[in-house]
This record gives sequence, C-alpha cells and structure tokens, in this order.
Amino acid sequence: MRRMLVEDQTPNAPLSHGGNHVLVAEATDGTPVGVAHCGPAGWMFDDDCIKPFMRRKVLERVASVNHIAVHPGHRGRGIATILLARIEHDFRAAGYTALTLRHDRNLTGFYQAAGYVSGSTMALHLPPVGLVTESSREWRYAMKPLTEQGSFITVRGIRALTGVLPG
Ligand SMILES: CC(C)(COP(=O)(O)OP(=O)(O)OC[C@H]1O[C@@H](n2cnc3c(N)ncnc32)[C@H](O)[C@@H]1OP(=O)(O)O)[C@@H](O)C(=O)NCCC(=O)NCCS
Repeated sequence: MRRMLVEDQTPNAPLSHGGNHVLVAEATDGTPVGVAHCGPAGWMFDDDCIKPFMRRKVLERVASVNHIAVHPGHRGRGIATILLARIEHDFRAAGYTALTLRHDRNLTGFYQAAGYVSGSTMALHLPPVGLVTESSREWRYAMKPLTEQGSFITVRGIRALTGVLPG
C-alpha cells in the first residue's frame, strides 16, 4: 500500500488548502482502496460553540478526520487503522495536539480500538475559558490527544480533553 495525495504540511503546499489534507491508500497495483480527508474541525463552527478568538487558537492545534472510507472489498484488513495512524503521525508532526471527529454510533468500537475516547459530547477543556462542548443525540464524537500534554479530565460529569493549547 502506498500513500497519498498530500505529503507537504505547509499551508501553501500545491495540494493543500486551508489545512485540508487527503490520504489515499493504494493496493500494490495502484488501485485506490481507501481514502481519508482531514482538516479543520468543522464542529467548532456549529452553534458558535466556541468564541472566534479562542477558535483561531484551537484550530491551529486541533484537527478533525472529516471522512474515512475503505472499499467494501478491502475492509477488515487494517487499512483504516493504517490511514488513521498516518493521519495522527502527520498532524502531530505539523504541531497539532489532538484529533477530533464525529462518527456513526456503530463505529464506537472501531474508534475506541484506535485509542479514541468516544461519546455523545465533544468536550475541550480550554483554560481560562473553561469547557467548550458540542453534543448530539444522533452522532458520537471521538477525541484523541496526539502529545503527552493532552489528557482527559472530568468536569461537571463530562469527559473532556485538556492540554491541547500550549502553556
Ligand atoms: C469504518 C471503515 C472505514 C473501517 O475500515 P477497515 O479498513 O475495514 O477497518 P480496519 O480493518 O482497520 O478495522 C480495525 C478494527 O475496527 C473494526 N471495525 C471495522 N469496521 C467496523 C465497523 N463498521 N463497526 C465496528 N467495528 C469495525 C474491525 O473489526 C477491526 O477490529 P479488530 O482489529 O479487532 O479486528 C470501513 O468499514 C468503511 O469504509 N465503512 C463505510 C464508511 C464509514 O462508515 N466511514 C466512517 C465514517 S465516521
């Protein structure tokens, strides 16, 4: 398997726009078998859950996996796991401290196996602002710290990711 459309993490890379990146997994004959799109965490724009001044800071540190899919004929072989690991590696190398994403309920086990905390609430603990949350009855949210500074705390009964901003 090879990767990918976007190698360069710099903002003006030829196949990059606004922090968006696409990975394509290929079979040995070059057939595309999996794809992942990641970039700015769109959930931060929902309902103005996070104020603009803080959003700018967080968008530089927290990215999102917006889409990941593996061709039905190639599922169950670890391709999505490899794509996720590559995404985490690339975003960590680019200075990001956490990944977040929204997913179908039936994929909770998949993301937990990949080291994500999954629940009905996305929660970031951002001192001095405090807790920033986004909830859904329909979807689940998954979060994973990419550095040793990131960890989970419980605030008012909500599991939240903390340590995503420097200092
Ligand atoms: C979800 C998806 C990307 C997984 O791709 P994959 O390459 O088959 O996943 P992997 O082989 O890396 O699986 C890793 C683990 O997750 C589990 N898993 C995979 N798909 C799963 C699913 N739909 N539900 C629950 N567990 C799942 C696997 O059993 C495996 O566990 P194991 O290591 O204990 O065997 C793929 O099924 C897919 O494209 N689904 C349709 C699109 C989709 O739902 N995308 C996710 C949107 S958030």
